[in-house]
Amino acid sequence: MPPFYVTTPIYYVNDAPHVGHAYTTVNADALARWHRLCGDEVFFLTGTDEHGAKVAEAATEHGVSPQEWADTVVQRFLGAWRDLEISNDDFIRTTEPRHHHAVQAFLQRVHDNGYIRLDTYRGLYCVSCEDYYTLEQLVEGKCPVHGRPVVEMEEENYFFELSKFEDRLLRWYEEHPEAVRPATKRNEALSFVKGGLKDISITRTSMRWGVPVPWDERHVFYVWYDALVNYLTAIGYGEDEPTWRHWWPAVHHLIGKEIIRFHCVWWPAMCMAAGVEPPAHVFVHGWLLVGGQKLSKTLVRQHAQLAAAGGSGSDGAAGSDPEATGASAPAHPVRLTEIAPQSLTEDFGVDATRYHLLRDVPLGTDGDFSYEGLVSRYNADLANNLGNLVARVATVVGTKCGGIGPAPDPNSALGAVAREVLSDATGAWARFAPHEALEATWRLIGAANASLEAAEPWKAEPGPSVDAVLGDALEVLRLVSLLVSPAMPSTAAEIWRRIGLDGAPQDRRVPADARWGGYPGGVPVVKGDPLFPRRKA
Ligand code: MSP
Repeated sequence: MPPFYVTTPIYYVNDAPHVGHAYTTVNADALARWHRLCGDEVFFLTGTDEHGAKVAEAATEHGVSPQEWADTVVQRFLGAWRDLEISNDDFIRTTEPRHHHAVQAFLQRVHDNGYIRLDTYRGLYCVSCEDYYTLEQLVEGKCPVHGRPVVEMEEENYFFELSKFEDRLLRWYEEHPEAVRPATKRNEALSFVKGGLKDISITRTSMRWGVPVPWDERHVFYVWYDALVNYLTAIGYGEDEPTWRHWWPAVHHLIGKEIIRFHCVWWPAMCMAAGVEPPAHVFVHGWLLVGGQKLSKTLVRQHAQLAAAGGSGSDGAAGSDPEATGASAPAHPVRLTEIAPQSLTEDFGVDATRYHLLRDVPLGTDGDFSYEGLVSRYNADLANNLGNLVARVATVVGTKCGGIGPAPDPNSALGAVAREVLSDATGAWARFAPHEALEATWRLIGAANASLEAAEPWKAEPGPSVDAVLGDALEVLRLVSLLVSPAMPSTAAEIWRRIGLDGAPQDRRVPADARWGGYPGGVPVVKGDPLFPRRKA
């Protein structure tokens, strides 16, 4: 098996993290955890993108230096990921010296290979996108993504000769049909290439907040050019050849759909220009939408303002400190609990939040994100199904088996369901479809609940037939702990403990430990508080 190197985009530190960031990060985390469970060698990277006009602008607004601003906001990201039990192996900040070295080494190679030239750039720039637009691309004279005015910029820039890579990129796409997924997004990326590629400006002289260009210190690299290299920095590019070559190119970049051009056109071409193999896989997901509008940092700001004013009907949890974000007057009343990751974890708990982010909106498509949706899935899947199964089994083992869990029947009908579910879940994780892996797991939970309802062991006299039903249900709980551990690590460990098993599911291996019949029997089963108390709609 090749090693499994998975990355999230590195997030801008102009503002606090929101649920959209958490969506990508939790999905990447679950994938990393699944691969660790399979015994694969895993490296999971996330981090922050700290250069560029957007961050410099936020710092100026708050009267601090860009570095001070980045140092403050990065704490919010670190805190959010700690809360959500994100298991990243590294966290990269683009202001770190190791990153400066890697960017300079990488771009010096591109320069030495003859793909960088000096020219004058004139264009319309959106600071929020950190990107140029043509007049035709503007909507009513404003940025098509942010609706904010663009600025005219003219400066001497170094250009990356992207136009030279059209044919090579087309060939690469043809030879690597799985490099960009899903297929719809691959087609989108391909159509960018087929539409013709222009050289891109990769340095700035109008600002200092960036990585200095090694061959011309008047310039700093344009933020995107610096940011993309983070994926190589973290594995030691420019410093530790055997290590980065060990992890590269077997990388999986998980990204949102708005940054497809950077990752699926620029980045592979940059790699080619530097003599590095392009990334093996970019998986592009859609957007979480609230009432059809992108959950953006602007909405986070609006929310912070609402919360500070005591409005919005939120639970009062602070998603984003208005002092820190420079809140402006709210235009759309969106509930805070729908926006900031911490407001969700405080309200629903860490694992229920993670479960929702993994289960509700399939990776690849856009989907609605709503408080109502969260409550209804929580009640259906977690309270009524999983929580109920755990509670029921522990109660009946207590009353009918003296609190000692019986062993399962090796030939139980549930064994066949479990085998099918394991195979479906394994396939789904491999396809980057955590929602399908969880859907499959819930079929096993449903089957166990149904078999308990059919047998009604709570009404029967203690004896071998009651033991058989409960032994099977306990074995299902053991398997479910393993299968849900990438999504809900604490819940999985708690179920494991309650059914009397040693260690934690995370220490086991799939598929070896996921074969039917592994529950030993003869161990104490304990009841606990409801794992997922039912919520009012
Ligand atoms: N700094 C760049 C990325 C550089 S990567 C070399 C950037 N940062 S960002 O802070 O704007 O984060 C964008 C990413 O956050 C998206 O690609 C996606 O992963 C995530 N999301 C932001 N809003 C989102 C939604 N509304 N829904 C789902 N994911 C979202 O772009």
